[in-house]
Amino acid sequence: MNLEALLAARLGAAFFRVAGATVDPAVRRSRHADFQSGAALPLARRLGRAPRDVAGDVLAAADLAGVATAEVSGPGFLNLRLTGEVIAAAANEVAADPRLGVPPVARPERIVVDYSSPNIAKELTIGHLRSTVIGDAAARLLEWLGHDVVRANHLGDWGTAFGMLIEHLGAGDAAGIDDLTAFYQAARLRFDTDEEFRTRARLRVVALQTGDEPTLRQWRHLVAASQHYLLLAYDRLGVTLGPEHFVGESFYNDRLESVVAELAAKGLLVESEGALCAFPPGCTGRNGDPLPLIVRKSDGGFGYAATDLAALRYRVRELGAIRLLYFVGAPQRTHFQMVFAVADAAGWLPDGVTAEHAGFGSILGTDGRMFRSRSGESVKLAAVVDEAITRASALAPAPEVARAVGIGAIKYADLSGDRMSDYVFDWDRMLALTGNTGPYQQYAYARISAILRKAGEFEGTILPVAAAERALALEVLGFAPVVDQAARSLEFHRLAGHLYGIAQAFSAFYESCPVLSAPAGVRESRLALCALTARTLRQGLDLLGISTPERM
Ligand code: ARG
Repeated sequence: MNLEALLAARLGAAFFRVAGATVDPAVRRSRHADFQSGAALPLARRLGRAPRDVAGDVLAAADLAGVATAEVSGPGFLNLRLTGEVIAAAANEVAADPRLGVPPVARPERIVVDYSSPNIAKELTIGHLRSTVIGDAAARLLEWLGHDVVRANHLGDWGTAFGMLIEHLGAGDAAGIDDLTAFYQAARLRFDTDEEFRTRARLRVVALQTGDEPTLRQWRHLVAASQHYLLLAYDRLGVTLGPEHFVGESFYNDRLESVVAELAAKGLLVESEGALCAFPPGCTGRNGDPLPLIVRKSDGGFGYAATDLAALRYRVRELGAIRLLYFVGAPQRTHFQMVFAVADAAGWLPDGVTAEHAGFGSILGTDGRMFRSRSGESVKLAAVVDEAITRASALAPAPEVARAVGIGAIKYADLSGDRMSDYVFDWDRMLALTGNTGPYQQYAYARISAILRKAGEFEGTILPVAAAERALALEVLGFAPVVDQAARSLEFHRLAGHLYGIAQAFSAFYESCPVLSAPAGVRESRLALCALTARTLRQGLDLLGISTPERM
């Protein structure tokens, strides 16, 4: 039972009688009551009547018996207070549902979630954190709702840098590379300082592109070494990317020619200084000139854009996806805008198929500038995770709990702010045990788990009586609508914020309502409410990719 929908149905009928037409009663949660409807205000304007009179008529016409009591407030709002029975019925229904009142979607969609997508032969840095964490939350959430999610780790595993890397590797064994950054930097140094090496590296690129077998073999070694490293990193972070999700840029190599051919046949390509470019409608530079999307470079090679066009066409045509999501930083906004516009013009995004660039802001240091190491380099993700775990062990001495808390703190800090905004990477704030943080939520969960452990077996139905019980039950019942909203908007801070509200409501409840020492009957009802709260927090945090240790 959806409380909002229940109230909307009852009020909707009353509005219909007053207005003589369908009116959306716009029922929302409110600080002034359990729920509030503001729909009498615009209706009164339309009818040329006093808003409080209209609201009064709606109230008189509304059948709310057994559901809620209502009153007109302020300029003409309807304040609604649910009856204890309705809250109890809804809470017990959700408690009996393994999915906590969140039904699987009626029509599952095949959705490609493109995320993490690092360039290989380099270590992960803090620059990969947001895509990896937010993309993983999206994949988890959409999958839990019953969608057919295809995770795509669009690795940068092809391109001219590989000439230098393969040449540096020589006939050696890539399995021996345990420090990718050092390997990359050594190759780079030789490339920058050794003319003869540079020439060999360039020839190596040609050998790679023309399919020279020994060169390809070394390339495969490098890719495998990188993938091995990435899988360990994902596993440590609790990110659900596996080997089956690696679909690197190289995968599309033999589709690039046909991308060009198809775009050319549709008259979408223009030759410009030897390169083949598309000029997608509506994409202009600062000076108003149309921006080119380079599909084939003047040397005949293909770049990032061509690969993304091939990937998009593949995902729609061959995978049958109807929603494409790209979790990539905001600076690539124009790139995706152009890729989508060209794909649309080519007919690769038919009706009902959507492509969305889900961008995000940057991570800043406490000085308000881009988050970098003291020496000015980008910070390695592994070092950040190490430090998080070390710091978390002050809160939770058990190693596996410290790991959960440290990693949870980083992820939660990333997910709890508006996705498009920049945020400051601040250890003290993200690891605080109070406020809207990962540790606070995990602590709330562990506290409820402790109560339930002490209680042992119990059986009971939820019957909220005290104000704090009522408030907690209402917060928990708001989980399903928020999950739905987060899935639509991909705004995870709404889900995080709601879980924070539940944890806070639990705190207030626990302060004023004894549980284990309550009289029989009340005790069972409160325990059942505790159990439902714990399950909701656990499920919600799991959707965000955050684990919930039973003890802290
Ligand atoms: N490898 C790219 C980078 O590091 C990100 C790829 C994002 N996905 C995509 N389909 N373009 O910037």
